[in-house]
Amino acid sequence: MGRLDGKVAIVTGAGRGIGRGIAIVLAREGAKVVVASRTPSTVDEVVAIIEGEGGVALGAPCDVGELQDLERTVEAAVRSFGTVDILVNNAQGFGTKANPLGTPPISPVETFSEAEWSYTLDTGPLATLRMMQLVFPYMKERGGKIINFGSLRGQVGTPHGVGYNAAKEAIRAVSRTAAREWGKHKINVNVVNPLVESASMEAARQRDAEGIKAFELGVPMGRFGDPIRDAGPLVAFLASSESDFLTGMTFMLDGGYLMLP
Ligand SMILES: NC(=O)c1ccc[n+]([C@@H]2O[C@H](COP(=O)([O-])OP(=O)(O)OC[C@H]3O[C@@H](n4cnc5c(N)ncnc54)[C@H](OP(=O)(O)O)[C@@H]3O)[C@@H](O)[C@H]2O)c1
Repeated sequence: MGRLDGKVAIVTGAGRGIGRGIAIVLAREGAKVVVASRTPSTVDEVVAIIEGEGGVALGAPCDVGELQDLERTVEAAVRSFGTVDILVNNAQGFGTKANPLGTPPISPVETFSEAEWSYTLDTGPLATLRMMQLVFPYMKERGGKIINFGSLRGQVGTPHGVGYNAAKEAIRAVSRTAAREWGKHKINVNVVNPLVESASMEAARQRDAEGIKAFELGVPMGRFGDPIRDAGPLVAFLASSESDFLTGMTFMLDGGYLMLP
């Protein structure tokens, strides 16, 4: 028996990195998982891993910057599995719509482009809000769990990523607002701010190995997190009935890097 037996989960950005780990762990806990991500081949790979372990998954290639793709993803979940109980808004685009990137570019405030602002916010807080609105009719009936993804970079305001920082803090604001409005429907809305190994972390390491090493040395637990060992279990907990009394919170999944009073 898993903690999420019979539940239906959508995980965006589940093709690789943190989202992939979350999709695999939610399926191990018994959820039927909609693997929603941009690149069809990685979606297929994750579905095959879950099914190979005896789990249930549905591939839903989608670009979270496109409203029609989001609508199609929720429709596919409901058509295949009947409802949506768990929504994990993990995907985040970087760069611009014309030139999407795998990691946040170095963009100083004084020259930050509106094209990058639009794409970062469209694929971040707007996509998160849209997905929350699309699943609301189902969650309103039976309660639900929404887990959104922020970043400590937004909290700290790290240099050269004003769009990303704004997007991630907007996601936290959307989450707290919905947590207050939707508590009466037994819908929990929480945020995870991760510091976890992933493709984008690896790309950052390739760009600045020393900087990333120094960053890692500042983590009290002495390492970055792992998608399956660390991110999956936290999200499974937030998706389960064990977290019924937790809402509107930001969970720092960062080995103690940013300890807030
Ligand atoms: N890793 C960290 O330490 C860290 C720190 C702070 C915050 N975060 C946040 O945590 C989340 C996951 O990060 P990550 O490091 O795992 O990222 P990642 O390695 O870059 O993986 C992101 C996943 O999202 C997908 N994706 C990107 N843009 C998309 C779009 N427009 N539509 C649909 N799918 C899209 C990617 O698909 P493709 O395979 O097609 O690229 C990929 O599967 C993000 O919200 C990120 O901002 C991560």
